[in-house]
Amino acid sequence: MSHAYATADDFIPAEDIGAAITPAGPTLGAYVEGIDLSDPFSADAVSAIRGALLTHKVLFFRDQNISHEDHIRFGRYFGDLEGHPVTAHVPGHPEILHIEAADGLKISEALLPIARPANKWHTDVTFREAPSMGGILRMRKMPPIGGDTIFADTAAIYDDLPPDVKRRIETLDAEHDILQSFGYRVSDEKREELRKEFPPRTHPMVRAHPETGERHLFVNHVFTKRVIGLEDRESKELLTYLFDRVKCPEYQVRFQWSENAVVFWDNRATQHYAVLDYWPHERVVERVTVQGDKPFR
Ligand code: SIN
Repeated sequence: MSHAYATADDFIPAEDIGAAITPAGPTLGAYVEGIDLSDPFSADAVSAIRGALLTHKVLFFRDQNISHEDHIRFGRYFGDLEGHPVTAHVPGHPEILHIEAADGLKISEALLPIARPANKWHTDVTFREAPSMGGILRMRKMPPIGGDTIFADTAAIYDDLPPDVKRRIETLDAEHDILQSFGYRVSDEKREELRKEFPPRTHPMVRAHPETGERHLFVNHVFTKRVIGLEDRESKELLTYLFDRVKCPEYQVRFQWSENAVVFWDNRATQHYAVLDYWPHERVVERVTVQGDKPFR
């Protein structure tokens, strides 16, 4: 099947809508200035932001005192929105996730294998047949210090893999399972329900980005359970090796939040990790999630 991919020429340049884009890191991330997310967008503004997202993979907007309605409207410019089967939502707004560490974990607890999925390297909702296109996160309650979010560029990670590893994984599929991460947080009854609604899904270990054609490593520590067709030990070794690549700071950008900052990431091109270093303080963020499509090679 041939697929026409987008190029920079397909999008309105950010300057044309009065915005300035400044790279935040050598591989991914950019600060966007000159845009007010509480204003409705023109078609040109949607095009410019989509173009910037494809280029930089994660966009950082500061000082955006947006309402829930503004948050939802901004998300809808990029696709339909989805809720989450386990994470709570903002009352009256099923499209906005409320993500909070209210019970407070110390760093040592946060690092346990069963700790919260947000505080591990992951791409969102890869347990879905069609994992999300993007996440739009708004800071609601800042801890006095800490609570950064780190993003990793999964195309740069894939590009740098040794040729023999690339050859090995480019035809392999892996299984992704919601119960691997969220299973321990729910009742037996809810676990049964999740099992029925979200059977384990198989995705290519390397996916082509549906808009740019770039190739991305597509396995993550939170949801990827095993490599199809490999013995247990071999599967674990391969996944551990790949998960370790995501931890390399060379492929990352780290965002230090400020009041009313908003972050928009391309979930097809990145992984992220919410740093849980602020206990006993609280941190609350709200996420709008844009639906995506079924990954292909
Ligand atoms: C998430 O994984 O969507 C939340 C990230 C964060 O809390 O920084």
